[in-house]
Amino acid sequence: MYYSRFLVPVVAFFSTTLAVPHPANLPRQSRPDNHTLNRERADAVKAAFTYAWDGYYKYAFPNDELHPITNSFSNSRNGWGASAVDAFSTALVMQIQPIVTEILNYIPTIDFDHTSSQVSLFETTIRYLGGMLSGYDFLTGPLANLASNATAVPLILKQAQRLADNLAYAFDTPTGIPSNNLNFPNGTDGSTTNGIATIGTLVLEWTHLSDLTGNQKYAELSQKGESYLLSPKPASSEPWPGLIGTNVDINTGLFQDAEGGWVGGDDSFYEYLIKMYVYDSTKYASYRDRWILAADSSIAHLASHPSTRPDLTFLAMFNGQERLFVSEHLACFDGGSFLLGGLVLKEQKYIDFGLALVNGCHDTYVSTLTGIGPEVFRWVENGTSPTDADNPPPSADQAAFYKTAGFYITNGNYILRPEVIESFYYAFRATGDQIYRDWAWNAFVAINSTCAVGSGFAELQNVNAPNGGGYNDFQDSFLFAEVLKYSYLIHAPDNVWQVEHSGVNEWVFNTEAHPFKVNGPPI
Ligand SMILES: *[C@@H]1O[C@H](CO)[C@@H](O)[C@H](O)[C@H]1NC(C)=O
Ligand SMILES: *[C@@H]1O[C@H](CO)[C@@H](O)[C@H](O)[C@H]1NC(C)=O
Ligand SMILES: *[C@@H]1O[C@H](CO)[C@@H](O)[C@H](O)[C@H]1NC(C)=O
Ligand SMILES: *[C@@H]1O[C@H](CO)[C@@H](O)[C@H](O)[C@H]1NC(C)=O
Ligand SMILES: *[C@@H]1O[C@H](CO)[C@@H](O)[C@H](O)[C@H]1NC(C)=O
Repeated sequence: MYYSRFLVPVVAFFSTTLAVPHPANLPRQSRPDNHTLNRERADAVKAAFTYAWDGYYKYAFPNDELHPITNSFSNSRNGWGASAVDAFSTALVMQIQPIVTEILNYIPTIDFDHTSSQVSLFETTIRYLGGMLSGYDFLTGPLANLASNATAVPLILKQAQRLADNLAYAFDTPTGIPSNNLNFPNGTDGSTTNGIATIGTLVLEWTHLSDLTGNQKYAELSQKGESYLLSPKPASSEPWPGLIGTNVDINTGLFQDAEGGWVGGDDSFYEYLIKMYVYDSTKYASYRDRWILAADSSIAHLASHPSTRPDLTFLAMFNGQERLFVSEHLACFDGGSFLLGGLVLKEQKYIDFGLALVNGCHDTYVSTLTGIGPEVFRWVENGTSPTDADNPPPSADQAAFYKTAGFYITNGNYILRPEVIESFYYAFRATGDQIYRDWAWNAFVAINSTCAVGSGFAELQNVNAPNGGGYNDFQDSFLFAEVLKYSYLIHAPDNVWQVEHSGVNEWVFNTEAHPFKVNGPPI
């Protein structure tokens, strides 16, 4: 069992938290660990990974992603083999030598100098750069025994550096805030703004590249862009301390709005504030302080309880100080972020709040016909005016669903996203409570039984229709990087790369779930 260092004993922890205002959402009693059961579950997830890899390798490799129904492929991520690079760190933690070897031998052959399509600085950083740096950390560290080709290992870091060198002109703007949409070798799409997620989700990868290569250029470029997010201007773009707008002018550094939340477009900016502190607590205390401001403001101003289910907690979005009762599958990483913050800052209030958020996102899974949560959902609070155009009540056909579920669905797609299972993983690592393993297992079984089709996993059109309402023939690379990694790690034996291993974090996961070895003393 992996109790957090300051939550022992777990029973006492639960009895304390039962005093908080939303008790029904907190986990039930801890149950004894069953090693046989956990091994069987970990093996079943590994089997699903191997099945999806085999389909991709047969019909799509070295293209970006598999179309599992038609056994064809596409290149939505520049044709550099996104699924292979994204699968790398998962194959490593699962210790599947043949797949590790295939990817290890492939990476040195990628031509990162050329592509026929627009390059996203953000997506390329989190998937390709993240995947390669993580693989390099493992193969030069605790999984060196899987380095079947010693010549290829240093070439992984070389490829990461080559890719970053090709991307670096993105930062060549009047402020140093990068352009996101690039046309290689030196053009952009001409946008004059960029968003806080795409600006603020580079620092971990680019700083780690500097620490591995000894060339500080990459860290400096990414941290210059980030500096405008840490001190946002004008003041009106920060409606509550730490909570900031979304779009920033890359020529002036000024925010263009005061609209945001923990949702897509903003999400991993907040995620990386605390993760930079985990990565090196001796250097990034200022990031930690911004996370604390955002976390405290979120508890004070964004925490919201649906009118029909006061036991549930979701985070609202905001526009200025107006709150919008809408959230997303993407935003369900929030529970995990509060839990990680609570662990490393030793603050029980963040653990408690994180578990409440995890419980709310669990509800979005168990309330639907498929047992999988929707892409976008809404709710209203007691006292929300029925004529509030920004916070409309559910339509008549969703009224009954809203009454029992506490949310209603405005986009029912499921595109193989990981965030709910990701937060279950943090909840388990923080509390040691088997209930979170059961929740993750149930989610995995639902995904495996509803999305598996043809040679892999496909997206669903409606999580609240029988069989998911039909498929979209697309298997995004993050199925490999994230869904199957978190589904596996929650049941897997303890190891140094696991969150809160022996009471500290020796590794930190990038937003694509690629684990990096931390640079500072583990906290
Ligand atoms: C552990 O799980 C296995 C199923 O994998 C089950 O057969 C066994 O009874 C469980 N043991 C306990 C003590 O619950
Ligand atoms: C090992 O890696 C080197 C460098 O990328 C490559 O030239 C060689 O072909 C690889 N070996 C195998 C067996 O693939
Ligand atoms: C951009 O790249 C093109 C094609 O390689 C080249 O002709 C052009 O001179 C470059 N422009 C700049 C400003 O570097
Ligand atoms: C909303 O009001 C109803 C009726 O007064 C009450 O039962 C419910 O607990 C309230 N919900 C919240 C979130 O306060
Ligand atoms: C996952 O689905 C496959 C069929 O696609 C099935 O063979 C396997 O048993 C399923 N795994 C679990 C754990 O349900």
